[in-house]
Amino acid sequence: MPSANTSNHQPVNQANNWQGLIETYRPYLPVSATTPVVTLLEGNTPLIPVPAISEQIGRGVKVYAKYDGLNPTGSFKDRGMTMAISKAKEAGAEAVVCASTGNTSAAAAAYARRAGMPAFVVIPDGYVALGKLAQALLYGAEVIAIEGNFDDALDIVRSLAKNYPVTLVNSVNPYRLEGQKTAAFEIIDVLGNAPDWLCIPVGNAGNITAYWMGFCEYHQAKKSDRLPKMMGFQAAGASPLISGKPVSQPDTIATAIRIGNPANWQKAIAVRDASKGEFNAVTDDEILDAYRLLASAEGIFCEPASAASVAGLLKVKDRVPQNATIVCVLTGNGLKDPTSAIEYSVNQVKTVKHDLETVAKAMGF
Ligand code: F0G
Repeated sequence: MPSANTSNHQPVNQANNWQGLIETYRPYLPVSATTPVVTLLEGNTPLIPVPAISEQIGRGVKVYAKYDGLNPTGSFKDRGMTMAISKAKEAGAEAVVCASTGNTSAAAAAYARRAGMPAFVVIPDGYVALGKLAQALLYGAEVIAIEGNFDDALDIVRSLAKNYPVTLVNSVNPYRLEGQKTAAFEIIDVLGNAPDWLCIPVGNAGNITAYWMGFCEYHQAKKSDRLPKMMGFQAAGASPLISGKPVSQPDTIATAIRIGNPANWQKAIAVRDASKGEFNAVTDDEILDAYRLLASAEGIFCEPASAASVAGLLKVKDRVPQNATIVCVLTGNGLKDPTSAIEYSVNQVKTVKHDLETVAKAMGF
């Protein structure tokens, strides 16, 4: 028999007393005492020093990875979803819907089902990594694949939410950004100040907007005495914010950011300008180099889109100020996309006969 406590879903003690990001940052979030908190104890992800990357830049620069792939469904989307689903539940929503390149659908499915709500997700057929698809299905979402890309899917779900009793939980839902801004709080809580630069992959441009909100709010609350330069990186084949116009056929191996017309376009431009930051494009080859480097030199397995932040930093490394502190956001876990990991790994499986000598020889002894 479960104890009275667990059956009533009372909080139980966690390591460091972590109760999820809504409880931790409650004064900064639009929740009240009666908001039903739907949580998987997301947030509190590690800020990991990445010395091999620091070394490539040199000049006393310190680089950290904010490894948000360690959230409960394996991406930063959990930060937004704990808020969006809690608020949807509070408002009495009947169901939720999202368009997704994969991670949003996994998070929406997990949190919606935990709240007892149906979840509908619309994805670009053939362009969602295997792990993400597996998650959405097993969490119990209704998964609809369309022939178009993410931008087409977002158009459809926006209209759906206008015409049917479903709540939209893409990053155009303001509660998503409220939740996601807590990653900036965590960085300042660990470093004691904002970094000089924040490097971040950009797709629909919700996360860069949310981080900036978080940095500004903590700055106002005097938790930091400076604001970072926001350095956003898009995949070269899906870089509307760099070219200044929508891309009708976005194309990149980083399927999470295969987006041609970001919903938060104007907000992202405002963030860039207010922070004196920059947007730059990184090629698929540069993304893959950073992806392999993070895994093989730092022991950090992220998904290809996440590696765009490190690829971007290395691309503009000559412009990094001396002794700067830099945080690269690693948005999703590498296990999300095993197909890419195997396809783009230098090392491949060697299949040999099962005797000692052959196995030793295969190892180079
Ligand atoms: N990194 C990963 C792993 C993502 O899944 C996404 C977005 C981004 C970066 C970009 O963040 O859109 O806020 O600029 N994924 C969305 C999805 C589009 O459907 O999962 P953004």
